[in-house]
Amino acid sequence: MFTIERNFNWNQQYDALVIGLWDQPLQLDGLLGEVNSKLHNQLEEIIKTGEISKKSKEIGSVFTLGNFGTKRIITVGLGKKASVTTETIKEALGKLFKQLNGKVKSISVDLSSFTSESVAIEDAGFVLGESLALSTYTYSGYKQKSNEPEKHIEQVSVISEEEEVLASLQTGYIFGKGTNSARTLVNTPGNMLTATDMAEYAAHLAETYGFEKEILEKEDMEKLGMGALLAVNQGSTEPPKLIVLKYQGKSEWKDVIGLVGKGVTFDTGGYSIKPKDGIVGMKTDMGGAAAVLGAMEIIGELKPEQNVVAVIPATDNMINGNAFKPDDVITAMSGLTIEVSNTDAEGRLVLADAITYAKHHGAGYLVDVATLTGGVIVALGTHTTGAMTNNETWFEQVLEASHEAGEPIWRLPITDKDVKRIRSSKVADLNNSPGREGHAIMGGTFILQFAEDTPWVHLDIAGTATSKADYELGPAGATGVMARTLAVLVENFTADHK
Ligand code: BES
Ligand code: MN
Ligand code: ZN
Repeated sequence: MFTIERNFNWNQQYDALVIGLWDQPLQLDGLLGEVNSKLHNQLEEIIKTGEISKKSKEIGSVFTLGNFGTKRIITVGLGKKASVTTETIKEALGKLFKQLNGKVKSISVDLSSFTSESVAIEDAGFVLGESLALSTYTYSGYKQKSNEPEKHIEQVSVISEEEEVLASLQTGYIFGKGTNSARTLVNTPGNMLTATDMAEYAAHLAETYGFEKEILEKEDMEKLGMGALLAVNQGSTEPPKLIVLKYQGKSEWKDVIGLVGKGVTFDTGGYSIKPKDGIVGMKTDMGGAAAVLGAMEIIGELKPEQNVVAVIPATDNMINGNAFKPDDVITAMSGLTIEVSNTDAEGRLVLADAITYAKHHGAGYLVDVATLTGGVIVALGTHTTGAMTNNETWFEQVLEASHEAGEPIWRLPITDKDVKRIRSSKVADLNNSPGREGHAIMGGTFILQFAEDTPWVHLDIAGTATSKADYELGPAGATGVMARTLAVLVENFTADHK
């Protein structure tokens, strides 16, 4: 896919040469200047007329009409140099690749034209690789005729004097690919991705990357007393699975990061059934599991010196004569009893046992990712993931990783009064849904009762796991959100020994 060239090859017949254009007085040094003189200064003229824009994310195109091998010069407006971030460049390139995909096969990119004081050449290389994978993603599902373009960008020659940039490009591409795998899992309908299918997918990952794997069956869960996960599965004819993948990158199994992802393959709401409009789209209720599996793919590729245990409770939330009901009292693996006020607050139930199990596997640091509440969508919208924590320094690491990945998170509080409220049941230790007020916070507060003192961050991706509209870095549908944040978190992790 990627090659590095020290100098642009004028004879090579690339489909396009891509150059970044800053919103500043035109500087005709470097490759842009050379191209301009080969085009008899016409490029300069066109830019001056404003027909080619330097504004952020504006794409311009000029044919070279036989003046040299490459067919087109494509310019990518980058806006003002002082205000640029790697995120803007990622989106600008995403917009470009979306336009080019299906039309061109080979491109050459003048990478240094995308660098600034705040964007080093490695950063530019990373986002190029990342955005190429992300923006050209499609999900054709089960259409008899695929909507995938026949022509793909297959060959990207990057002009740079620094050979090391190749590694950045490839790493960025791996991050994009891992995210795309998460997207495909989320886009797959519930009948095509049952808990059993998800376990098979995880087993395949384990084989590819040499992870240790453990799949708990219903009988195993019964023996372990996973009454919360089992309750959610009670009304289903599809057996539940608890999926565990272990990646050991250190000589000893210590300082283990536990990644826990909600894997509800379809959420009807159970007897607290969802209305007909609210139920559509609930195939995406395993977005947390998908993020964890996407991150494990990236981790498997990059092999950081860290220890990770991924735990995914997988089941659907269905209704039949055996299904659990409102008012039922169930007992989680940790021993805590739970009054079920709402069978639609099922995510926290499956996560409760998964978190307990992650701790049993030695997780000393926890992150759970879940499409947990509609409340978080009301609070934060669809671009920002909700976060809750019991540990400031661990939260800092997650926040830092989310910045680096370009996936914003925002913290919601958990106070002693919230804890009191989740523990206010008259008949059990906990109530799974003590009311509408602050119910995103209630979700987090409930899970906290199982994380206990282990450093933990909860990420509620109900708003961010899917996008209603197409965007620069992908089509409408699953976003694969948090796969990259989790992977960066693992890569950069430092144990906090107090
Ligand atoms: N899976 C839903 C949350 C959800 C809603 C995800 C919309 C994606 C889009 C979750 O299991 C749920 O039903 N949550 C309830 C919680 C309530 C019963 C406390 C909700 O948000 O209404
Ligand atoms: Mn639900
Ligand atoms: Zn759910």
